[in-house]
Amino acid sequence: MATYPPPYPASWYALGDVRDLAKGEKRFVEALGEKLVVFRGEDGTLGVLDAYCPHLGANLAGGEVKGNCLECPFHRWAFAPSGQVERIPYADHVPKTLRTRSWPVREHHGLILVWFGSDEPRWNVEPIEEIEDGRMVYRGRHDAGSVRMHLCEFAENSADHQHFTPLHGEMMVPWTRLRIPGMRVVHEATWEPDPEQAHIAYFKDAAVLSLFGRVIPRTSAHATITFYGPGAVVAFRISVPDMGDIVIFQTHLPLGPLEQHVRFRWFADAHVPRPLVAYVVGNWVSQWREDISIWENKVFRDKPMLVPGDGPMHAMRRWFRQFYA
Ligand code: FES
Ligand SMILES: [Fe+2]
Repeated sequence: MATYPPPYPASWYALGDVRDLAKGEKRFVEALGEKLVVFRGEDGTLGVLDAYCPHLGANLAGGEVKGNCLECPFHRWAFAPSGQVERIPYADHVPKTLRTRSWPVREHHGLILVWFGSDEPRWNVEPIEEIEDGRMVYRGRHDAGSVRMHLCEFAENSADHQHFTPLHGEMMVPWTRLRIPGMRVVHEATWEPDPEQAHIAYFKDAAVLSLFGRVIPRTSAHATITFYGPGAVVAFRISVPDMGDIVIFQTHLPLGPLEQHVRFRWFADAHVPRPLVAYVVGNWVSQWREDISIWENKVFRDKPMLVPGDGPMHAMRRWFRQFYA
């Protein structure tokens, strides 16, 4: 831990999935060095507040959603999503200044995103048009549990081109860590920041299968991975030739300095057959799992020993530092 940058760069972070938080529900979340309560009002409005009541310290997650407010279980003060105290059962007048700490929150394609790091969000995660207008539809999600790693490892991974062949060169049975003998994946990766939006970076991978050393050109597939910020919210767009696109959101929520809760949620063009979608997503998840044993046992090299041929590690780290500004 001593070798890594600070654990929680400024970003939108995914606290969870809206499907797990119906209207009128609330949940306690311990993440980002905070204890939070997330709730959804009866009209669907989301709120994220400091879990502990500013009055006498009860945990608001034990309370009840009433209308669009969260009521504390102890003396029934009612808090709006903004943090403002709306009602106190035994006070005729509630001063406007009474409030608890709240975090900016929004829903993004089914993810509950909370802004963390400065008072106001410095940028937004822009919605994907085809999901908004229904051309792409929800096709599934996967909760991968927690991984013992720093958030920055995921960004490091995308710029570190030289690990693809040794670590991701073998074809796996989707969703598993079983290797398919004789079959290899040849990767060609690039990493670059967006020229106009400083908080966005792209990692592109052109992959093709080879069977016993012979490349099979019609298996070639392109993936563009968009980093919205430091890697807490990442979207993969994979084009399946002649079929359409699949978008996978991968999110990292730091439960602690070196512990990420990783979730996947995906959408696809409606006419891409579901088994194919599951296959493509499963392939990605299998490849991602190959990195875990490295991440969980490494340190951060502040001054890495690099040679020509290594990926743009320094450029990526310069880009990453903006989230600590
Ligand atoms: S502790 Fe929450 S209302 Fe008193
Ligand atoms: Fe990797």
